[in-house]
Amino acid sequence: MNEEYDVIVLGTGLKECIISGLLSVDGLKVLHMDRNGYYGGESASLNLTQLYEQFRGGAEPPKELGANRDFNVDLVPKFMMANGKLVKALVHTDVTKYLEFKAVDGSYVFKQQKIFKVPSNDAEALKSPLMGLFEKRRARSFFIYVQDYELDEPKTHKGHDLTKMTMAELFKKFGLEEGTIDFIGHALALHRDDSYLAQPALPTVMAIKLYKDSMARFDTGSPYIYPLYGLGELPQAFARLSAVYGGTYMLNTPDAEVVYDEAGVACGVSHGGQTAKCKMVVGDPGYFPEKVKKVSQVVRAICFMDHPIPNTSDSYSAQIILPQKQLNRQSDIYVLSCSFAHNVAGKNTWIASVCTTVETSDPESELGPGLALLGSIKEKFVKVSDVFAPKEDGQTDKCFISCGYDATTHFETTMVDVLDMYTRITGKVLDLTEKDPSQIEGQ
Ligand SMILES: *[C@@H]1O[C@H](CO)[C@@H](O)[C@H](O)[C@H]1NC(C)=O
Repeated sequence: MNEEYDVIVLGTGLKECIISGLLSVDGLKVLHMDRNGYYGGESASLNLTQLYEQFRGGAEPPKELGANRDFNVDLVPKFMMANGKLVKALVHTDVTKYLEFKAVDGSYVFKQQKIFKVPSNDAEALKSPLMGLFEKRRARSFFIYVQDYELDEPKTHKGHDLTKMTMAELFKKFGLEEGTIDFIGHALALHRDDSYLAQPALPTVMAIKLYKDSMARFDTGSPYIYPLYGLGELPQAFARLSAVYGGTYMLNTPDAEVVYDEAGVACGVSHGGQTAKCKMVVGDPGYFPEKVKKVSQVVRAICFMDHPIPNTSDSYSAQIILPQKQLNRQSDIYVLSCSFAHNVAGKNTWIASVCTTVETSDPESELGPGLALLGSIKEKFVKVSDVFAPKEDGQTDKCFISCGYDATTHFETTMVDVLDMYTRITGKVLDLTEKDPSQIEGQ
């Protein structure tokens, strides 16, 4: 404990583990601590005993569910886009060698009380029952434009400057209907609300391309992948990486507290009567109660079922996005399902999660439209979590704090926060382009 570190990281949530992995690879001397005796913090994966301890006051899990060790239940379930930023960060740090992935079977969107497969290219648009005959053709032209668009080849821009033209204007050029815009914006580009419509079209076009390119990676019905044995594998894989680069992990430090100098700048962390010195501290909001503010609440229901989600072609794993407009809400509802096929549950058990941002004083009933898609549910665990964000960027007090996890069931927004933290900490933009994400093997 008497050594001096470049960085001390507090909390082993996924964001903190990625940051500590990236900084270790950069050559910084990292000490990583967690008050808990397990990895993952708020985003941990639990076995049955831990799950029943947290949600059922330690009651015995029903025997019929199967063996405790077969379960890895994510508290913050998310899939990763096969070509997305998290996968690129895994490849960048070479953490992939500690992990095994399997593609997710299906990607769906909710429209007019029904669920539909999300079409991701011109050919699928033509076949999709989501749209009427003429709309299919307009959508097909839109998809062809997006597929052909190359940032550095002006002739593919067809006279549109997407850094200036808004996304609403681009949709209008193709004459797309509101319902089509809804699924493209929310289920393909993964926007959480409609503010993107008034912003330049380029980021949305790139997000749609990312979806399509990820889709093309594996021969399944989704652009997503997920690790075997659950998300809890990720923090542990980053911990192994950190160790390779000389980083140190310490779990079970319940008394860990940030130490500040007279000027209020973080200069160490105390634990067990000793203080480890450092140049900066990184951590989740739980370690900095006075430096964060509550920005929203998220409600999540984790459900056990003995069948796949109906109307998902018997998928062993799937995501369904319910866009806000289809529900008369301000925020989307996200449904994610996973099963024994990804080694996260006992045989013939599916785990479905329904998540959204809380808008009323009755959060659980807000999940109704998502829960209604699941069919019969055997067990349901509901949790409402406060989401905190740092009040400051960390430059003055050298405390670099992550934001809490939002309701999305994919990692795109998580990685926006991680990359922003990385830049705040190092002053550099992380270059994730140098390695090819196709190094990741799926099954
Ligand atoms: C599921 O499929 C059935 C049969 O095609 C259909 O009647 C029902 O509306 C579908 N439900 C949803 C939520 O898509």
